[in-house]
Amino acid sequence: MNTGLTQAFRLRHPIIQAPMAGTSTPALAAAVSNAGALGSIAIGAVDAEEALRQIRTTRALTNRPFNVNVFCHATPAPDPDGDQSWIDSLRPLFDRFDAGPPEQLRDIYASFLTDEAKLQVLLEERPAAVSFHFGLPTPRQIAALKTAGIVLLATATSPAEGQAVQAAGIDMVVAQGWEAGGHRGVFDPADDLRLATLPLTRMLARQLTIPVIAAGGIMDGQGVAAAMMLGAAGAQLGTAFVPCPESVADEAYRQAMAGPNAHRTQVSAVLSGRPARGLENDFMRSADPDRIAAYPRAYDIGKALNAAAKAAGDDGYAAHWAGQGAPLSRIMPADQLVRTLADEIDRAANIFRSDETNRAVGSNVGKNHPSRQAAP
Ligand SMILES: Cc1cc2nc3c(=O)[nH]c(=O)nc-3n(C[C@H](O)[C@H](O)[C@H](O)COP(=O)(O)O)c2cc1C
Repeated sequence: MNTGLTQAFRLRHPIIQAPMAGTSTPALAAAVSNAGALGSIAIGAVDAEEALRQIRTTRALTNRPFNVNVFCHATPAPDPDGDQSWIDSLRPLFDRFDAGPPEQLRDIYASFLTDEAKLQVLLEERPAAVSFHFGLPTPRQIAALKTAGIVLLATATSPAEGQAVQAAGIDMVVAQGWEAGGHRGVFDPADDLRLATLPLTRMLARQLTIPVIAAGGIMDGQGVAAAMMLGAAGAQLGTAFVPCPESVADEAYRQAMAGPNAHRTQVSAVLSGRPARGLENDFMRSADPDRIAAYPRAYDIGKALNAAAKAAGDDGYAAHWAGQGAPLSRIMPADQLVRTLADEIDRAANIFRSDETNRAVGSNVGKNHPSRQAAP
């Protein structure tokens, strides 16, 4: 299949396995890349040394292209009063587990914008692709990465962000809809249009000249094909890959994904300080959304609260990030999932081919296809 995505990386399938900080692994990325799609590792939440280790581990498992993802959030200004207010508001939740909150919140991740060591790792290791979430890197970083021959991708959640991605010289845009699991890549969470994947993908495909990769709620090849009907060059799937044995999702996460409440997802900022979609839990239901500290400082205490709860056998405070398509997820090894997605894309594409054939021969076969029922 020839699209701007498959051509850039010589892929067999127009599929990217989403980078998923804390969940995806080098083994997952390598299995996906070896199966002919583009695997991703997420290094947004680790330091340069660990990033280097993960890139080398992935490279040892595949000689195919893979993507490396970083976070480009603005580093928040110090706000001791705001931090204290959030700590105080969560104290009763810590009390439930006979634990105390941390006294201070730390910026647990450095933004790529200020992480010179991580830039150097990428320039030296030269992965085939680097993708950006939460905004854009600096023009100097973009120029250096492009000079190193790396293909660049960035998340956009609105037409304005899509235009900014293209204007910055990024090679492809990931159109992330409101349905998507994990953190919203929105540049400024205070200005979130909350566009769904379908209209966002179509808008970006019509407005931009760079390839558009659809992301959010896409769980099978039918979904990938639908995104391509809208003009996407392929799709990026996160939630679909969470249950793969190659991910590091723990048992509680896997059970929740397979359980009856998988359709209850919510976008909430209480766990980390930035809006993210996950399986609804007690943390989202009980925290005061008006006092949340800035990302990533809020994630520091969110992780501490989850650790305290988990130690007491309560998984209601964990970040089980998942998109609206979670109930459609399937449990299978990543290479098998890629093959399954590819077969489904073929079959979905065939629906239209056989319709054309049917029209050409004047056959009645396929007259009950939904696309015809919808016709007036
Ligand atoms: C568990 C999880 C973790 C994620 N972590 C990241 C990340 O580190 N970087 C990133 O760019 N996107 C991340 N995302 C968002 C994905 O890139 C993508 O937009 C999303 O998975 C698409 O929606 P879907 O989950 O419905 O397929 C994450 C998604 C999930 C489900």
